[in-house]
Amino acid sequence: MNILITGAGGQLGRDLIRVLSKKHKLIAKTRKELDITNEQSVREAVLKCRPDVIVHAAAYTQVDLAESRMEEAYMVNSFGSRNIALMANEMGAKLVYVSTDYVFDGTKGAAYNELDRTNPISVYGHSKLHGEKFVQLICDKYFIVRTSWLYGKYGSNFVTKVLANAQQHSELSMVADQFGSPTYTYDLARFIEQVIESERYGIYHASNRGMCSRYEFAEEILRIAGHSAVRLNPVTADSFPLPAARPVRSDFDDKAIRYNGFPRLRMWRDALQSFILEDLNIDSERIQTDEIMNETDKEELGNG
Ligand SMILES: NC(=O)c1ccc[n+]([C@@H]2O[C@H](COP(=O)([O-])OP(=O)(O)OC[C@H]3O[C@@H](n4cnc5c(N)ncnc54)[C@H](OP(=O)(O)O)[C@@H]3O)[C@@H](O)[C@H]2O)c1
Repeated sequence: MNILITGAGGQLGRDLIRVLSKKHKLIAKTRKELDITNEQSVREAVLKCRPDVIVHAAAYTQVDLAESRMEEAYMVNSFGSRNIALMANEMGAKLVYVSTDYVFDGTKGAAYNELDRTNPISVYGHSKLHGEKFVQLICDKYFIVRTSWLYGKYGSNFVTKVLANAQQHSELSMVADQFGSPTYTYDLARFIEQVIESERYGIYHASNRGMCSRYEFAEEILRIAGHSAVRLNPVTADSFPLPAARPVRSDFDDKAIRYNGFPRLRMWRDALQSFILEDLNIDSERIQTDEIMNETDKEELGNG
């Protein structure tokens, strides 16, 4: 298939290229090459490459900054997605819109399935939900793929930040009362590869399975990477005020994946292990030796 990828320079975008290029012809556009807020540019790009599928991974992802840059967040996440949806529909192309667990408020007290009521509590969450609505209103052939807590080889994310901090500090503080599902961009890209080869349209919750707090996530990162000397301090989200509110618990029930017969994503701990040991190629024995030489210091790292 001919596949257009937006946001191709981002952490998911680059793993999409890694996965999809094996079987498909890709037209991968970074922000520089295609600004999705420019309707005319989107039109020209899509008419030129006539894609069978558009994987729309471009987004304004700075959750805290979005609170003060509301217009920018809506321009990209809502209206930019509208521009993409209009052209996908005009071309008869399938559209994958990558969305987020932040469309939920986190108060359900259980894993969210695709039929649960959305109620975002941040500008970012609102802007992404509006993007979903445009896609649903405009397109027939869409997959809305909601995911959460992304990390991967090609970006700065919670995992890379914890590892970098563990090299410099012997004590880290982590939020222990917010829960979600860490997701490896490579696994998500593989899931997207499977849905685009189908006609099973609709909303999907696609995260690595299982749930943890940021504290437990960091604990597992340090364990796998062999940073046994780094001490973790659990802290509450309240003691860590940030501009954007986060859902307290936003893990997913992958009902649509099961119902439609797609392979489920693996458990988050297994995915994390693959990422750290294979993708980052970390040698845990070497790290242990290095960290003995680090001085004690405190670092707060609450929300990646
Ligand atoms: N990261 C997470 O934890 C997370 C969680 C749930 C859902 N998601 C969703 O997953 C998708 C991929 O996220 P990610 O982590 O890969 O984010 P990312 O690394 O920030 O990638 C997003 C890409 O979109 C590009 N972009 C921003 N504005 C654009 C515009 N106007 N036109 C074209 N491209 C533009 C960015 O370019 P610049 O870097 O040049 O700005 C960046 O390369 C997004 O839809 C996001 O909302 C992410």
